[in-house]
Amino acid sequence: MRNAASALAVAALTMLVSACDLGLPAGRTPHREGNRLDMGDQPKLKPQRKDVFGARATGLMEPQPGTIAVGETPYGYAQNEADRAGAEVTNPLPASPEVIAHGKFIYENVCITCHGPKGAGDGPVTALFPKPPSLMTQKVRDWPDGQLFHRPMRGQGSMPSHARQIDTRDMWSVIHYIREMQKVEPVAPPPPTAAAAPVAAPAGQAPAAPAGAPGAAPTPTSGAAAQQGAKS
Ligand code: HEC
Repeated sequence: MRNAASALAVAALTMLVSACDLGLPAGRTPHREGNRLDMGDQPKLKPQRKDVFGARATGLMEPQPGTIAVGETPYGYAQNEADRAGAEVTNPLPASPEVIAHGKFIYENVCITCHGPKGAGDGPVTALFPKPPSLMTQKVRDWPDGQLFHRPMRGQGSMPSHARQIDTRDMWSVIHYIREMQKVEPVAPPPPTAAAAPVAAPAGQAPAAPAGAPGAAPTPTSGAAAQQGAKS
């Protein structure tokens, strides 16, 4: 009995020792006798490397769907709900000098590239990127804060959403800063967009008129005639 027990114990110990000797299967370097690389190079999750356990493209652990960061307020309005956002959402931050200064900081780091230092829509990027309308127009002044907040949060036309770069408090600070600018900047005329285009359309015959009326219209003809004349 005693012998059997000790025989078992010896067998168990032998198995344990030999298991130790085999070591864990190493990550990239196969285990060899005396090779302790497997301590540093063991199967583990690395964010930039293929997931060794789940065979996913990355070992990076994604947060569960619906996870909310501590102190983060989710923004629950879809892109086409600007009016509803305008009616329901108000700026949770006080217009204190600190908040306005923070808004200025964010504006001058993110929005200024397109919207320009005074919100006129003349940022340096507009040489290559579509020129945004001025943020100093009466239309934007009349928007409730929620509406003004919604546009950059959800994106509009050629402006992408900035919700991934700027958290909601930063964006609300920017709204205070834009309101501050509107207090000192003159009201900008409405941009010559679709709204203004029909107004310009009757005058659109005028552009054709100055260019093409008595003087210009005949010019191509006479030019062509002159060319033809030159050819023949
Ligand atoms: C990459 C350039 C770019 C950046 C950066 C940018 N915007 Fe815009 N923004 C635009 C363009 C272009 C439009 C016009 C989009 C359209 O209607 O097609 C626009 C439109 C807007 C409008 C609506 C104006 C109107 O009269 O319809 C608001 C408000 C606005 N942006 C605020 C912001 C704020 C705040 C930021 C910074 C957080 C910001 N934008 C950053 C390019 C930009």
